[in-house]
Amino acid sequence: EECFKVTIAGASGGIGQPLSMLMKMNPFVKELSLFDLQHTPGVAVDLSHIETPCKVKAFMGADQRREALKDANIIIVSAGVPRKPGMTRDDLFNVNAYIIKDLAEAAAEVAPNALIAIITNPVNSVIPVACEVMKKANKFDPRRIFGVTTLDIVRTNTFVAEALKIDPKEVNVPVIGGHAGDTIVPLFSRSKPHVSFSDEQIIAMTKRIQNAGTEVVEAKAGAGSATLSMAYSAARFANALMRGLRGEQNVIECAYVASDYGGASYFATPLLLGKDGIKENLGVGELNDFEKKLVETAIPILIENIKTGVDFVNPK
Ligand code: APR
Repeated sequence: EECFKVTIAGASGGIGQPLSMLMKMNPFVKELSLFDLQHTPGVAVDLSHIETPCKVKAFMGADQRREALKDANIIIVSAGVPRKPGMTRDDLFNVNAYIIKDLAEAAAEVAPNALIAIITNPVNSVIPVACEVMKKANKFDPRRIFGVTTLDIVRTNTFVAEALKIDPKEVNVPVIGGHAGDTIVPLFSRSKPHVSFSDEQIIAMTKRIQNAGTEVVEAKAGAGSATLSMAYSAARFANALMRGLRGEQNVIECAYVASDYGGASYFATPLLLGKDGIKENLGVGELNDFEKKLVETAIPILIENIKTGVDFVNPK
């Protein structure tokens, strides 16, 4: 049984704690490294009492960053500040970009073969930061760095299942583009099972999916953004990465990765996962006219978001 070392950066946070718990419960995880600037020793002892074989270790503070990441098979990053009401994901960039840069520099040094799954927002801009940092260190492998967009898929599946009154586990709708507002493009035309919603329903559901992050921010009224559904989604994505690493066939998940679509050098698409991360980018595929319009709206925003990330690492 091949099992893995997983490091969670930001492990003490609102996402990090439930995500750490889900990883402690995952039979493919043999070692869990918890890294944060605060509280990891307590979180680790607490989790270590759970009756699963996975070993939990705590690392705290910048001085222990390298040790925490060393030789990880998978690094999941939720380190950073969350969005408060009135803030956009882009407002987060100036704080979170530095955190991602430090983590990517350390990963390039001590875990160059790790698969890196980044949750920290704004995902559209911080994935380019991580990739540019890895390029500078000569350690960039586009098959290994992912922006986690799984929550967009999870939400889409849930909302479709509600409308169809079926079990969400039976629904699968690919979501492409980016991970904020108008860059999120659900592809109802490729829903499994097939859906025959009216145009009005498709428009309303697309809007709800694109604004679902804000729906949570507003409901939490100052207490942060999505944490539990995000932790669930990241755990689902990490599990897919591990299934790929174990050689399971036909593991397909969408994520935001280095790509080239309509001038956007990063784009979320369905990916076939394998032993080195991405085995094959399955691409955007066929779109209907409504979806083509959504993509046309998304691309210039993405190009701008990507430029923000690239320019941060390579100032003009
Ligand atoms: N290194 C490691 N951990 C850090 C660092 C750093 N440089 N900076 C902050 N952290 C930790 C914080 O100490 C905190 O425990 O990251 C954690 C973030 O947790 P929360 O503030 O509760 O935020 P959370 O809701 O988990 O969201 C984290 O994910 O979805 C995104 O937009 C969200 O960017 C935000 C991130």
